[in-house]
Amino acid sequence: MEQTLVLLKPDAIQRLLIGEIISRIESKGLKIVATKLTVLDKDTANQHYGEHSEKPFFNDLVNFITSGPILAMVLEGKNAISITRSMMGETNPATANPGTIRGDLATTMTYNLIHGSDSLKSAIKEISLFFKKDELISYNRTIENWIQD
Ligand code: RTP
Ligand code: MG
Repeated sequence: MEQTLVLLKPDAIQRLLIGEIISRIESKGLKIVATKLTVLDKDTANQHYGEHSEKPFFNDLVNFITSGPILAMVLEGKNAISITRSMMGETNPATANPGTIRGDLATTMTYNLIHGSDSLKSAIKEISLFFKKDELISYNRTIENWIQD
């Protein structure tokens, strides 16, 4: 089953939005198979956002993501990667659609609350950066047949 990495960024924790965002994820039907409250060190942040290392916003991005606790999660489900990305909304909350996490709850590019893997390749790499294999929990939900056919 497809898995994706989600980070609730420092602004989500500081703004007390963990419950609101996880509630949306649970209601959608995605399964949480791992979670961890952590503070990223610079090295891990550099690796996580390595694709942006040449961009002008890279230093601000790394400073922000390491500035306080984040909640890392692995979500599982059919099309978990694209479903999570569509629930997040566009990168810039100012233009993200209403109904999305960024569109409803955020206003600026840096403080956009949530990260989600953007492809299968990224998901595999990012999950292994944040979690050891034995930290991913395999379990059945009794309502599974009502969520996925
Ligand atoms: P994320 O990786 O955090 O899930 O966000 P994303 O895929 O929607 O956007 P991405 O292009 O990967 O950019 C990573 C983060 O960098 C900041 N950013 N700033 N000033 C800018 O032009 C700019 N572009 C991107 C955003 O905070 C974005 O979440
Ligand atoms: Mg990205």
